[in-house]
Amino acid sequence: MKNTYIFDLDGVIVDTAKYHYLAWKKITEELGIVFDEEFNERLKGVSRARCLELLTEHSDIVLSDEEKHRILEKKNAYYLDYIAQLNQADLLPGVMKLLEKCKGEHINICLGSASKNANYILDKLDIKHYFDVIVDGNQVTKAKPDPEVFCRASEAMRVSSEDCIVFEDSIAGIIAAKNAGMYAVGIGCKDTLTDADIVFKDLSEFSV
Ligand code: G6P
Ligand code: MG
Repeated sequence: MKNTYIFDLDGVIVDTAKYHYLAWKKITEELGIVFDEEFNERLKGVSRARCLELLTEHSDIVLSDEEKHRILEKKNAYYLDYIAQLNQADLLPGVMKLLEKCKGEHINICLGSASKNANYILDKLDIKHYFDVIVDGNQVTKAKPDPEVFCRASEAMRVSSEDCIVFEDSIAGIIAAKNAGMYAVGIGCKDTLTDADIVFKDLSEFSV
């Protein structure tokens, strides 16, 4: 029985994916790295540090640990600036209705996000109380597509992976869900999320 839903945050619950993109855009402009929306698909679902690695590998730039640290702090400062005004109006279509429906049907609700800002964002959106388990970027050591973040959620919930449905907007996250042995619902574009079991435009198209 699929009684546990694990939601990614950025791009599934809230439209913050565009702000991650804009923050990286500023950083890459400063570093003189070519960066576009297509490459950005590879950064979705991926930890902040891994994003920087992907960008520097792609452009053959070598940075010292100190520079990396400074750039990651700066990227986060830009991002936090963008999301300063975030509130419940920024929830993506269908989120509130689905969370309410899950509560009514006694479905376990988990968060499985790579973001270290996840708790802060859930507070801003005023939806933290819906979640039975929150696993974020502060608790995992391996970035998606490693299944760690989703396995931690199912373990905390004491359910098996076959009982979990993962909702993800990123290629890395869909692969992570499949690596965890879970059913993967893609949120976004069918042509991008080719490994998903099913793809919806947003959560309003999904029914419990
Ligand atoms: C999410 C986003 C990624 C982002 C990651 C880390 O998974 O999809 O694009 O890089 O979180 O976010 P953070 O808020 O910790 O920088
Ligand atoms: Mg996402």
